[in-house]
Amino acid sequence: MIESKSWNWAMVDKDDKYWNSPAPEFYYLADNWKNKKFKKILDVGCGYGRNSIYLAKQGFCLDGFDLSELSVERTKENAKKQNLNFDNFVVADMLNFPYPDNTFDGLIAYNVISHTDIEGFKKTLNEIKRVLKPDGEAYFTLGSKKSFWFTNPKCTYVDENTRIRVEDGPENGIPHFYIDDEDCLTLFNDFKLIRVQEVRELTHYGTFSPHYHIWIKK
Ligand SMILES: C[S@@+](CC[C@H](N)C(=O)[O-])C[C@H]1O[C@@H](n2cnc3c(N)ncnc32)[C@H](O)[C@@H]1O
Repeated sequence: MIESKSWNWAMVDKDDKYWNSPAPEFYYLADNWKNKKFKKILDVGCGYGRNSIYLAKQGFCLDGFDLSELSVERTKENAKKQNLNFDNFVVADMLNFPYPDNTFDGLIAYNVISHTDIEGFKKTLNEIKRVLKPDGEAYFTLGSKKSFWFTNPKCTYVDENTRIRVEDGPENGIPHFYIDDEDCLTLFNDFKLIRVQEVRELTHYGTFSPHYHIWIKK
């Protein structure tokens, strides 16, 4: 299995608007999970805490972790500014979640669990299943094999799904796991699919970044 590597958040301004505003999908998800009476939510790879903070303000109880110490530190600081206490957020690796079985109603991992190879991805999926309560749900995003980066010859080949990103930015040297439609139909066999979408978004690189948005249930 490839070694985990966190983002280099020291390269990202702590006040960066994108990394401090919740991803729009969570407006809908919060409403849906409130209707299901979900309470305990886990944020895997919390970044600067933008999604956790939004969900906590909606009344959910958040736990979260990230491999980057700086990310967890800034998440706590940002939460404090909103009168939220995220002292329970910790530094950890998604290959081994630091929580007991059947703990969470919901789990989010926005552009996170792709930072590994095939073996690491399967291990992370097992961890997701382990910590979700029966009927618990997970919402996460994964890069598509249609991504410019998947076919970029500058990126190092690891396995048929995985490349190591080479860039002058916070993701340099970090593994990225990409999927296609066929992978979607096989990788999540241990779960029930709620909704799977492929979304193309224009990024600051000036290229369209295709991602799968995966919503599954234990
Ligand atoms: C694209 S950022 C997304 C941050 C956050 N989810 C958001 O939407 O703002 C990816 C995050 O995953 C974290 N990460 C990468 N590999 C990880 C691992 N093995 N375990 C935990 N976090 C990891 C990175 O440090 C980074 O904070």
